Amino acid sequence: MTSTAPAGTTAGAHDTFPINGTDYIEFWVGNARQSALYYANAFGFALQGYRGPETGVRDRASYLLVQDKLRFVLTSPLGPDGPIAEHVRLHGDGVRDMAFWVDDARAAHAAALERGATSARDPEVLRDADGEIVIAAIRTYGDTIHSIVERRDYRGLFLPGFEAASYPFAPRPTGLKYVDHCVGNVELGRMNHWVKFYEDVLGFTNILTFDDKTISTEYSALMSKVMSNGNGRIKFPINEPAEGRRKSQIDEYLEFYRGPGVQHIAVATDDIIATVRDLRARGVEFLTVPATYYEAVPARVGTIEEDLAPLAELGILVDRDDEGYLLQIFTKPVQDRPTLFYEIIQRKGAKSFGAGNFKALFEAIEREQARRGNL
Ligand code: FE2
Repeated sequence: MTSTAPAGTTAGAHDTFPINGTDYIEFWVGNARQSALYYANAFGFALQGYRGPETGVRDRASYLLVQDKLRFVLTSPLGPDGPIAEHVRLHGDGVRDMAFWVDDARAAHAAALERGATSARDPEVLRDADGEIVIAAIRTYGDTIHSIVERRDYRGLFLPGFEAASYPFAPRPTGLKYVDHCVGNVELGRMNHWVKFYEDVLGFTNILTFDDKTISTEYSALMSKVMSNGNGRIKFPINEPAEGRRKSQIDEYLEFYRGPGVQHIAVATDDIIATVRDLRARGVEFLTVPATYYEAVPARVGTIEEDLAPLAELGILVDRDDEGYLLQIFTKPVQDRPTLFYEIIQRKGAKSFGAGNFKALFEAIEREQARRGNL
């Protein structure tokens, strides 16, 4: 089970090692037990696994949450010392690990190191009665890592050490299916460093670039480059702030996360109207755009299959590129620090990221920033 985008190819890709898809995303949070209930009740994930003191792990508790191909792990420290507690103290709740599913973790880790990666975990074999996992990790921006997971000799639930778990109630899924892309925010002047990291170390390709003229409002601007692996299942846009009249949303993120990190995770659905209606009813909060946004949609986007009324009612945005169109919406930050948020996306042919919505979207973000006193 993995979180993958639809396969596509990028011309000239030369992956350092093949990546089958996203294996899991791990969050280090202050109270994983409560976060797990939020992801279950609000987003419709099912609890499938647990690892903690009851299973023989003394320093942390982890909850495995699954919905379709999405696999999230929420982990909290059980004391004030150690890397998890330090990460939570510094960054608040956030993404620690975007793990890759590979066929040969030892070879992948060695190849990445040879090309300049820094190891975050040397290859290690984890065993239980269901077989063995080989796991290693490399560092990326900030305190974020990419674990490299080989599971061809493993038949168990997730990773050795996790035991099956479930809630005594059954939260209905909301139609979330897989990770479409994960966006990182890095400091001013550092975007190209991380673009080069993904090119040199992992063999990714820069498939799209947005300069500060494409992505600007009256107050601020940012630049973004989208990196993709060869099969298109891993897409990492990387943002950096650009000079503007006021503090950009990227600067706000960097200030509150105390450095670079994952800004948003875009999750795919096949029915965004039903998914967003359900998420809203369960308490997920979304950014909204002015009603005038929808007056301009027919002229800007042309004919689409959906009625505009439910899109406007729910605040869903629309954009078109040469290959089709897409529907998308963004949540407010999902913790008190204005850091990580989610995008819900339904692609109808479009392979881009909604550039036509950037201005309306960033103005919506800036209204929230202003309310926080951070614009
Ligand atoms: Fe996005």
